[in-house]
Amino acid sequence: MVAERSKITAIIGPNGAGKTTLLNSIFGIADIFKGRILLNGSDITGLKPHKIAKRGVGYVTQTNNIFADLTVEENLRLAAHELNKGDYVEKKNEVLELFPRLKEFLGRRAGTLSGGERRMLAIAIAMMKSPTVVLLDEVTTDLAPIMVKKVLEKVVELKEKLGLTILLVEQYAHRALEIADRVYLLVSGEIKFGGEPRELLKHEDLIGLYLGAV
Ligand SMILES: Nc1ncnc2c1ncn2[C@@H]1O[C@H](COP(=O)(O)OP(=O)(O)OP(=O)(O)O)[C@@H](O)[C@H]1O
Ligand SMILES: [Mg+2]
Repeated sequence: MVAERSKITAIIGPNGAGKTTLLNSIFGIADIFKGRILLNGSDITGLKPHKIAKRGVGYVTQTNNIFADLTVEENLRLAAHELNKGDYVEKKNEVLELFPRLKEFLGRRAGTLSGGERRMLAIAIAMMKSPTVVLLDEVTTDLAPIMVKKVLEKVVELKEKLGLTILLVEQYAHRALEIADRVYLLVSGEIKFGGEPRELLKHEDLIGLYLGAV
């Protein structure tokens, strides 16, 4: 599996396919028994998550990706605890330019935000560490269609404005196919398809079996 620089690579597949496990493996959370993970050609297999993060990989996990009891600002500060005050403020302002709605909520407890706002915050938290590669695990699941669209538009914006490399796990396959440059279909831990989204759409058998109507 290859995630090209400054492109969106989508990973889709049924529940329990191993999508989260794949992201956990990349980020050093799950044990790896076979295969290697290369980042810009250098082997990061088996490194601890904080080392992988230091190399520029950000991870928005499927659950528990914000601290609900802390304010929005505290969430951002915690993500950038290694920065001094001045650098933090600079970084925060940079990230808030990408997520302007969050400016209104800085003093609010993160748990009181709407579902969509919370997903935006989770991505903003990851952006505080200035990643070059971002792993996004189902950032749109359970959101209203309008918010799904907004969050995915933000993902595209991150790619286009910052040149981020994005690995996007998505439950809404059709949405993922719309914005992805490349897509992998994962079933029971195996890659059943890898290629351009429009190529996958030609495989009616795979779509019918694993994705329902796209
Ligand atoms: N720590 C674990 N110990 C044992 N089995 C696990 C563990 N974590 C995940 N699994 C199993 O591995 C399989 C893949 O799980 P994973 O969470 O990666 O799937 P997924 O594709 O992300 O699914 P979903 O779309 O529901 O998030 C599942 O059968 C799951 O129950
Ligand atoms: Mg998952």
